[in-house]
Order: sequence, then C-alpha cells, then structure tokens
Amino acid sequence: MNSSTPQPTFRTENRPTEPVQRFRQPADIFEALFQSIQGGETHARPTLELTPDSPFLPFLEIGYALRACAEKASRHDYLIERLRPHLSVMIGTLPASILPMGMLPKLAPLPGFRPLEQISDDEVRSWLIQEGGLIYGEMQRFELDNYFDAVQPFLPPGGVMVDLGSGLGKVVMTAALSWPFVRCVGIELMTYRHRLAQERLVRLLTLARQGLEALPQPLTPDSPLMLPSGVQTSGRHLLELGARIAFIESDMFKVDVRGASLVFLYSTCFGPLMDALSNKLARELPEGALVTTTTYPIKHPAFRLLQSHAPGTLSWTSVMIYQRIGPQMAEPASEARYLHQPDVVAWEARARADLAS
Ligand SMILES: C[S@@+](CC[C@H](N)C(=O)[O-])C[C@H]1O[C@@H](n2cnc3c(N)ncnc32)[C@H](O)[C@@H]1O
Repeated sequence: MNSSTPQPTFRTENRPTEPVQRFRQPADIFEALFQSIQGGETHARPTLELTPDSPFLPFLEIGYALRACAEKASRHDYLIERLRPHLSVMIGTLPASILPMGMLPKLAPLPGFRPLEQISDDEVRSWLIQEGGLIYGEMQRFELDNYFDAVQPFLPPGGVMVDLGSGLGKVVMTAALSWPFVRCVGIELMTYRHRLAQERLVRLLTLARQGLEALPQPLTPDSPLMLPSGVQTSGRHLLELGARIAFIESDMFKVDVRGASLVFLYSTCFGPLMDALSNKLARELPEGALVTTTTYPIKHPAFRLLQSHAPGTLSWTSVMIYQRIGPQMAEPASEARYLHQPDVVAWEARARADLAS
C-alpha cells in the first residue's frame, strides 16, 4: 500500500447476518437492502441463444468450431496447435465455454458456421480474449465494504459512478447505497446478466419502499440520514434510490464515460483488454476522476496511482486506485504488457488430460 492517507482497518470476512424482521430505523432498511443483493456469484448460467440475429453470432461460430475439435479425439492435436499461440490471453487450461457446462448451446451449428480450419489466428485470439472477459465473479460484501472505505477519502460528495462490466449489478447497487452518488450506472454486455441486474433492482426498490412505509418515524427528503459508512446525507438518499441507479445493456467500449467521477473495473479477467480500456478512459475521463482496478494495473501516463492494496488486504486479489491527471491524451495499445507466459509443455499435458476426460 503506498499512500499517506490513513488506512481503514480492513475486514477479513462477512459478519454474521440475521434476516431483518422489522424496520424500526433506516439502518434496518440498509441492512435488508444489502442482504438482498448478495449471492449473485452462484446464479444459474444459461447458455447463449443460437439465433441468426444474436449479437453473439461471431462468438458462437468460433466457439462451436473450437468445441467441435474438443469433442473428437482425432481433432485434439489440431485444437492444441491452434490454442498454443494464445496461451498468454487464455484463462484456465481450456476455455470454459467449450467445456460441457460452458455457455455454448448444445444445438447443431447454424448453416454457414465455419470449421476451425477456416478461422484465422487473429479471430481465435480475439475470441479467447472475449471469452475470458465474460467469466463471472463478484466481490463479497465485506470486500465491497473495504473498497468503499478505501476510495471514500478520494471521493468528492455527489458524482457519477460507473461499473464497466456490471454483471448482476451488485457493485452498482452497493455504491448507490454506500455513498451519496448522484447516479450509479452499470454497463453489461450479456443480455441475461443485464436482465438479472434489472430484476434485482426491482426487488431492491420494492424492499426499500416496504421498509420506508414501515418506519415508525417517516423519513422525509430533508431528514438527516447517516449511511452505514458513517457518511451524513439526507432522506433523499433512500427516497430517491431508484432514480440514482441505471443499468445499460451494451459493450463497455461503446459507452461514453465522460461524466464519471468513479469507474469501477472488476478487471481480474480483463488482462488483454487493459490497454484498450486505459486508452478509452484516458480519452474520456475528466481530470480528477478515479478509476479502480482489480488484479491488473493501469499503465498509462494519464493515470496516477493513489493506492495499491495487496491481495488478502482489501480483497482476495489486488485492488488499485488511480486518478486521471493532466490533459486528455491517448496512448497506443500494447497488450503484451499485461500478459502472462505460462509453461507451454505443462499446459499441453494438462490440456490433453482435460480433453481425454
Ligand atoms: C468479473 S464480472 C464482474 C461483475 C461486476 N462488476 C461485479 O463486480 O460484481 C465481469 C463482467 O464484465 C462483463 N463484460 C465482459 N466484457 C464486457 C464488455 N465488453 N462490455 C460490457 N460488459 C462486459 C461480463 O459479462 C461480466 O458480467
């Protein structure tokens, strides 16, 4: 950790929780709302839809070609030969999507889907990068509590928080509850995750309304309200919760984040995307905006590292806090700076064993 800012003592596990039975004070509402947004990491993963108009059609085509090779022992040598040049961008021994429980549907390929021989190395590489980025994970509740404690000293009140790759919306909703952001926005590529985030938001807002209606002392827009983090705000924070949260189904590279004051990236599976993301953020963010990443650093001169938290302190993985500095600038991408170089021989042995099982 490298900052002169005094550090909070980080939690190391979730505190035991009891379901909230009665809403006697706003703190009970907060507790019920936080409880309602936990557990998304265990959601059932549906397969992608195989329709001619699916935005994932190119992804499905290449996934099918790779999976067809995985399913035939006589094609394993060829599959290994095609994956070998791309180990640095691959997560795990074999891409999860082509395994039996993966996200490709068990339906026949659409007419016109090419076999792997007709798919270029560049296409395979891009597919592997996208496939890795779609892996789902969430920080636990205590990690997000630690996270907001850590960024709080750098955050001006108000502002707009954006989660690029927002999944089921846990971070966006946690942010809206934890800090007086004017708006918290999640951008998610996968339709079903975006839909689950919206469903969770409806549940959250219903629960908030029930809690507010049950309070013995009604909360008014101007009543003083203390957030669980100790930040002092007003009743509007809970009364206008719905207006402060939005989820957008889109590719994060297509959404402008110009107005953001805090960009959250759960970037643990975004290694090969980090340069493109850093360039985008350098182009769009105003001076002073914060960006936080997990696992991978931002290596762009437009960002100054404010704090770096080692794995096992704030979270299971490292968490870095950056600030956008200086004039707008762009830096050419060079993904090689983020990539790992696994042992090729050991990978091949593992891949063959996995394919055979
Ligand atoms: C590790 S999950 C993190 C979810 C959420 N941010 C959280 O921390 O709870 C990463 C998410 O990024 C999404 N994702 C990957 N590539 C994306 C892209 N190009 N645009 C938008 N979302 C993307 C994935 O679908 C996945 O839901």
